[in-house]
Amino acid sequence: MSNLIILGAQWGDEGKGKMVDLFSERFDIVVRYQGGHNAGHTVFIGGRKYILKLIPSGILRPGKMAVIGNGVVIDPAALIEEIENLEAAGLSVKNHLAISNRAHVIFPFHRSVEKISEGRPGRVAIGTTSRGIGPCYEDKAGRRGIRMADLIEPDALGPLFQSLAQDKATLLHAFQIEDEADFDGMLQEYADYGRRLRPMVCDTSLLLSRAMAEGKHVLFEGAQGTMLDVDHGTYPFVTSSSAAAGGACVGAGVPPTKIDAILGVSKAYITRVGGGPFPSEAQDEYGDIIRNAGNEYGAVTGRPRRCGWFDVPLLRYTTTVNGFDSLLITKLDVLDEIDEIPVCVAYRLGGRQVTEMPATRAAMAAVEPVYEKLPGWRASTKGVTSYDELPQQAKDYLKFLEQQTGVEIGCVSTGPERNQTMVIAGSRLERLIAT
Ligand code: IMP
Repeated sequence: MSNLIILGAQWGDEGKGKMVDLFSERFDIVVRYQGGHNAGHTVFIGGRKYILKLIPSGILRPGKMAVIGNGVVIDPAALIEEIENLEAAGLSVKNHLAISNRAHVIFPFHRSVEKISEGRPGRVAIGTTSRGIGPCYEDKAGRRGIRMADLIEPDALGPLFQSLAQDKATLLHAFQIEDEADFDGMLQEYADYGRRLRPMVCDTSLLLSRAMAEGKHVLFEGAQGTMLDVDHGTYPFVTSSSAAAGGACVGAGVPPTKIDAILGVSKAYITRVGGGPFPSEAQDEYGDIIRNAGNEYGAVTGRPRRCGWFDVPLLRYTTTVNGFDSLLITKLDVLDEIDEIPVCVAYRLGGRQVTEMPATRAAMAAVEPVYEKLPGWRASTKGVTSYDELPQQAKDYLKFLEQQTGVEIGCVSTGPERNQTMVIAGSRLERLIAT
């Protein structure tokens, strides 16, 4: 297997971090291509918990190279803190991390601007992570953003910063937001971040191109999930980047012709954090049962996640957008205690059954789920590593998801540890990772 994308097939938090960590053994380089420190990957290795926000989880494998691509937005303070935490845990980060010189930089005023857009009267709040992600991407698209290449050059940084900071001060003043930002202090602070990060900043597109030419294998890791993609997700309740597979090429600067396969990660159920439509949300006590069993709280913000049942139309849609070669199903064990497991197999809208994903906010909010109930297995699957050892009902459940979505299930995870995983014998995934 040469170059592969692993990304979320739902609304994020599918367990991508664990899957990337698991497969990164077979790759030389792991690349993040979008998002920022709004993402949180939790990986457990040998009982130790690592939370990664910006750095690809490949860093946890000794000797692997981790790349932060141009499509990522970087809060340098958050990145430096993450590097220091990982180094304190004994990992070698600085020598194995490359940061794109074209990635955009998040400043504290991006968070202040986000307060305006989230808190303005009459505006539907998105329920963002409040990390300044959206406003930083706005500046990128508005062609006034500041990139890592500028951050590491004090002479370039000053004038760009003054112009951007002035815009923000005017905006904050117009919206009567009291912001006591010390812009001069901020510039000094950021110039210092630039000095510290400089040794890791380079043209990562070129780095990847050369590595691929030498026959190195690259794994691209998505953050958030397809339904949070700015184009294909449940707009406007989305993040501001291209989380779908196409985003990997844009956000890493690699040609689409270099991608060999695309893997979608999905929970055996579904969750979402923040506002927005959620057709198969369990609004009864099962929402709490799943949340407790699956410890469904945001890795970054600690917010309780909204929980619900596997949504087939949504998975079919994200398969259309991404062209998944195989699905990796996580957290099967969370459903161990449930008697009957509903699966959303279709949507009804205005009394009619619909097969496509509605595009408008109103239609998405009006969608009613059509459920089919499957018998639960009422037995522990925690840590099971062989498909044959799964209870028959759990196998039937997985088969049902496979038939309904039209994508093979190549891998199933039954616990947070690296080894609590099975690759399905005879699957396309097995063949992909064997080559
Ligand atoms: P933002 O990315 O902070 O702008 O937030 C936009 C939406 O994306 C909100 O609903 C967030 O809760 C959601 N979101 C952002 N990052 C993640 C993530 O890593 N997992 C799940 N949801 C996320």
